[in-house]
Amino acid sequence: MSKFERQRAVTVRDIAARKGKEPVVCLTAYTALVAQLLDQHVDLLLVGDSVGMVIHGLPNTVGVTMEMMILHGQAVMRGAPQACVVVDMPFGSYEASKEHAMANAVRLMQETGCAAVKLEGGAEMAPTIEFLVKRGIPVMGHVGLQPQSVNMHGYAAKGRKREEWDGIIADAQAVAEAGAFATVVEAVAADLGAELTAAVPNVTIGIGASAACDGQILVTEDMIGLFASTPTFVKRYAEWGSAIDEAAANYASEVKARRFPAEEHTYSMRD
Ligand code: KIV
Repeated sequence: MSKFERQRAVTVRDIAARKGKEPVVCLTAYTALVAQLLDQHVDLLLVGDSVGMVIHGLPNTVGVTMEMMILHGQAVMRGAPQACVVVDMPFGSYEASKEHAMANAVRLMQETGCAAVKLEGGAEMAPTIEFLVKRGIPVMGHVGLQPQSVNMHGYAAKGRKREEWDGIIADAQAVAEAGAFATVVEAVAADLGAELTAAVPNVTIGIGASAACDGQILVTEDMIGLFASTPTFVKRYAEWGSAIDEAAANYASEVKARRFPAEEHTYSMRD
């Protein structure tokens, strides 16, 4: 059976039906091994363009390419047979025109087999979202803090002043009305996250938004403590950064002392 024939356990329609119901559990993944480990615990895996920082050491998501998203999307699809897999459209792949966005969204879906694509933006991206959705591409929106616009707006949380609320809610409504089945709401005041969730008909997925959102997402490597510092909205469920540090230090000292490899890690001669 090819990747296109395989019926995934969690579909876009399943996610869309979770508005106001049991929270949708989402995490990011970029590799087959991590996708395999997460698959049974989540409803949705996002191949986020955060891959640029997490895996490739880029300073932000601006330098992420279609080729990177396709390669990591394919890896995640191989590792995760259950979850609904969404792949981010990278910066520059969808803004210029609806037709350009369509060509790149088709490429992401055909070359990875993913269930949907995600793109950043509010009312200004609504015509593009509608164009894609009407042509068979499920789209996830992304409002609030939009990391691809870091060079314009930085990384500050949004909606911490009441006068910012109407614009952000109007953006989320425009994205939902254009047909996005779900919308990521990033780094907004908690009260705004709750109000926005009540104001839109589609599923909201919070990251630094509010527990009132219809689901939550975190960058997995943030959540398992691989980075020394993480944003305020990250809860660290493990401390793998220090565990790797300790393991590497022990390995280095045993290699230097010739205590590794021990006899059980070596091959004996055969008669
Ligand atoms: O790229 C990413 O990981 C994301 C999440 C922060 C939602 O867009």
